[in-house]
Amino acid sequence: MNGKHLNKIIHGDALQILPNIADNTVDLVLTDPPYFLDKMDAGWDEKKVSSKKYHHVVKSLPAGMKFDREQGKNFYKWYYKISKEILRVLKPGGFFFSFSSPRLYHRMVCAIDDIGFFIRDSFIWLYTQNQPKAMSLNHFIDKLNENEQTKTNLKKQLLGWKTPQIKSCFEPIVMAQKEPEGTFLENFRKYKVGLLNTDVKIGQDMFPANVVSTDTINEVVDKCFLISKPDKKEKGNFNIHKTVKPLSLCEHIIKLTTYSDEAVVLDPFCGSGTTLVAAKILGRKFIGIDINKEYIEIAKLRIEEMNGDVTRYNISGREKQLRICDKKAVYKISRKSKQQLLIKS
Ligand SMILES: C[S@@+](CC[C@H](N)C(=O)[O-])C[C@H]1O[C@@H](n2cnc3c(N)ncnc32)[C@H](O)[C@@H]1O
Repeated sequence: MNGKHLNKIIHGDALQILPNIADNTVDLVLTDPPYFLDKMDAGWDEKKVSSKKYHHVVKSLPAGMKFDREQGKNFYKWYYKISKEILRVLKPGGFFFSFSSPRLYHRMVCAIDDIGFFIRDSFIWLYTQNQPKAMSLNHFIDKLNENEQTKTNLKKQLLGWKTPQIKSCFEPIVMAQKEPEGTFLENFRKYKVGLLNTDVKIGQDMFPANVVSTDTINEVVDKCFLISKPDKKEKGNFNIHKTVKPLSLCEHIIKLTTYSDEAVVLDPFCGSGTTLVAAKILGRKFIGIDINKEYIEIAKLRIEEMNGDVTRYNISGREKQLRICDKKAVYKISRKSKQQLLIKS
């Protein structure tokens, strides 16, 4: 059984560790795997990715920008094996939520579908802040073997035209499900999993949707899709992980899909442990796995801190925050930008 793994964070390669988890024992897998962009693959080493040597390898492009047709295929092959293990450990009717990048999402979902999951839906985590990665071509024009006039004309001709990288403002999350045993009702009565809790509201008391936002954007979007903004404290000052997910997003998915306090939430790529912290806040059991020892220590520290300092993760405070739009939000048209800005809630 899983007793020895419950509420533990295990160091190692997910493909090696997952086989130790018993069949049909996990209620929810919520994870944010390596995206397989550049070197951020199954052997992701943050230090290598950000080292000068690595940037030299990808010819000075920032991480995530090197286009390689093999990335998606490698991701598919690897995630097919991971998904096979996840299908085995989930209870019938159990959900599998997995984040990805807009670029390689299709490969991830095909792997999950091909191994036998039902693809129930796709969520979009919407945000407004991100660094646009498109590059100007001026640098390359300067290197052309052309006269100065031709170069100047070309630059004028391409004013505003950049490489094909649009500003990325959403992350897709697949919602897959292991086939239930019998009807949804029969499956639920036996395994306490497989249904969605529609009492979990978002925005201004709205029915849960497949769009979630953690940024206040405008009145309509906030009313329909807003879950709370990440709290500055929730990550922890010591947390150097580059891709920490918002706690409220993990809480939202766990509340939506797990029924029992005995429910087990597994994150095989737990990084700094956001899924695990959310599971603990909600009184669920968790199992975390990560290949990077440093991240495991950070995740452990975040969990430990919860034991000591409850105010840091004050549940009633968070509940209030989750209903951020319950109180009538006041919006004002800013004269300068003519955009709607949330000024007070
Ligand atoms: C996108 S991050 C997860 C971040 C996490 N959601 C958080 O909020 O901190 C993906 C994680 O997968 C881990 N990883 C990469 N390859 C792995 C493997 N083969 N087995 C287990 N973990 C792996 C990386 O160390 C990284 O922390």
